[in-house]
Amino acid sequence: MILSIESSCDDSSLALTKINTCELVFHKKISQETAHFSYGGVVPELAARLHAAALPKILEEVSKYLKEVKAIAVTNEPGLSMSLLEGVMMTKALSLALDVPILPINHLKGHIYSLFIAQKERLPLGILLVSGGHTQILDAKSYDDIKILASTLDDSFGESFDKTAKMLRLGYPGGSVIEEYAKLGQKRFNFTIPMQRSKNIAFSYSGLKNQVRVAVQKLGENISRQDMYDIAASFQDAAISHILIQCEKIFKQNVFKEFAIVGGAGANQTLREKMRILCERFGIKLYLPPLEFCSDNAAMIGRAAIEAYRLKRFVPFEDIKINPKCAQAAAKNGTL
Ligand code: KG4
Ligand code: ZN
Repeated sequence: MILSIESSCDDSSLALTKINTCELVFHKKISQETAHFSYGGVVPELAARLHAAALPKILEEVSKYLKEVKAIAVTNEPGLSMSLLEGVMMTKALSLALDVPILPINHLKGHIYSLFIAQKERLPLGILLVSGGHTQILDAKSYDDIKILASTLDDSFGESFDKTAKMLRLGYPGGSVIEEYAKLGQKRFNFTIPMQRSKNIAFSYSGLKNQVRVAVQKLGENISRQDMYDIAASFQDAAISHILIQCEKIFKQNVFKEFAIVGGAGANQTLREKMRILCERFGIKLYLPPLEFCSDNAAMIGRAAIEAYRLKRFVPFEDIKINPKCAQAAAKNGTL
């Protein structure tokens, strides 16, 4: 089995995956959402302390399996450096104690492999990756061949939900609460869809975020619950329409027969439904990971690690590096 560890942001998670069958034997995650709620975002120092408490607690639950572990996989990029460090330090300690090798795993590859938990890999696929840190369209041909076709120029899709929730004083994270509020609202606010006239295929959420800020400020202290519902509905519609327009541009190039949505914000039901309709229009088959594996988890890291194990991507103890900014670096050369 592979023991996998995920601690890149605010979820502490461990999983055990069978190497030959990809069977998920154990999976647990302790989320820190309530701890960060009132701050409107993740506080790195608090996140690190909570990982240091949660990871050993989960480890106790898998202690009876440790003699069957053949490698330890850990998310080493991208993420909050203090959070990544907690998982990497635990990995190093376990690797020494159990005398097994280490497989460093890219978090974004983990999200892609959330599609294949407990089943065979089925690449090539076009992928829309939407999370708190990333908004990308990827051409994923194999574990080693993943090209970035489009990225965000500023904020990410998930982050724009978090910021909208923060402006409406709805706590952190904002994705699911904004989605729920949007269900009760009307598109009363005329927010412009970002980059509508641009020929480039890219994402941008800072302008939309600013439009929400101006609307909230105008309403001031008199903001009603219905105003909040309507802002959520208007914002979500513009945010999702932006995704659909960029995906449509890619689909028109006829590159993909099969497509998937991954990442924490891929749990958004309106996004899923509208993407399903768009894919149907282009005759593209759409794959979605189970909801429980959309947000950060170690099961997806374990599944990606099976490929890394087969490819013998072991890295010596002293060479394991954390890389918080890999996404920006990767965007420059266009690969993950
Ligand atoms: O993948 P993930 O768990 O963590 C990162 O790698 O960033 O994604 C978390 C992000 C947060 O920004 C959260 O607000 C967003 O995903 N999210 C959603 C929904 N559920 C979670 N965004 C929109 N709609 C949702 N239902
Ligand atoms: Zn993630």
